[in-house]
Amino acid sequence: MPEPYIPELARDDEAPRDGIAEEDNRIPPWWWWTFLATVVWAFLYMPYYFFSGWSQETQYAAEVQAAGVRVAAVREAMPTENPYRGDAAATAEGAEVWATICVACHKPDGSGLIGPSLVDSYWKYGDDDATLFETVAKGRPEGMPPWETQLGSEKIWKVLVYMETLPRSDEPGMGAPGFDGGGS
Ligand code: HEC
Repeated sequence: MPEPYIPELARDDEAPRDGIAEEDNRIPPWWWWTFLATVVWAFLYMPYYFFSGWSQETQYAAEVQAAGVRVAAVREAMPTENPYRGDAAATAEGAEVWATICVACHKPDGSGLIGPSLVDSYWKYGDDDATLFETVAKGRPEGMPPWETQLGSEKIWKVLVYMETLPRSDEPGMGAPGFDGGGS
């Protein structure tokens, strides 16, 4: 049997255990002090946790609030008015986008086919610049696809500025309440 590397302390109970001996040594100091530190820590931490108001929930709420502020800043930075109004080059570019994409569903004159008329005075979602932008960027549930990824915001503004140049009609058009189906 090799020499025990930690000398065994005397025990009252020296009953034989098939040659298996239990050592009865002091806990190493590093272990003892670490344990004590966790006890001290618990007494500091518990009151802090319960009474300081700091918790996962407040942290989460703060993060949500910070995100809200960032979103508001992004919204703020987004143009709420079409930046290309009156810009001939941009309108021409918009016309190209219109002819490539939008005509399939809204017809070249905007009177509507699969999609509603965009030249009558009825707007389901609204015709202020920000709403029109959102309609084209994000799409609308009844069949209007989102174009943000394909077009980017520049081209969306441009196609909208072109859309404004289409001759408008006072008759309720395709998709409007009171549309008589007679075409435009
Ligand atoms: C795949 C067919 C399709 C294409 C392509 C399409 N639209 Fe639409 N669009 C629709 C449909 C369908 C609606 C109605 C959605 C609804 O009522 O929820 C719509 C709705 C709209 C509206 C909202 C009208 C309102 O009354 O508020 C606008 C604006 C619009 N489209 C513009 C465009 C522009 C600009 C393009 C080209 C970039 C385009 N659309 C391409 C099918 C299409």
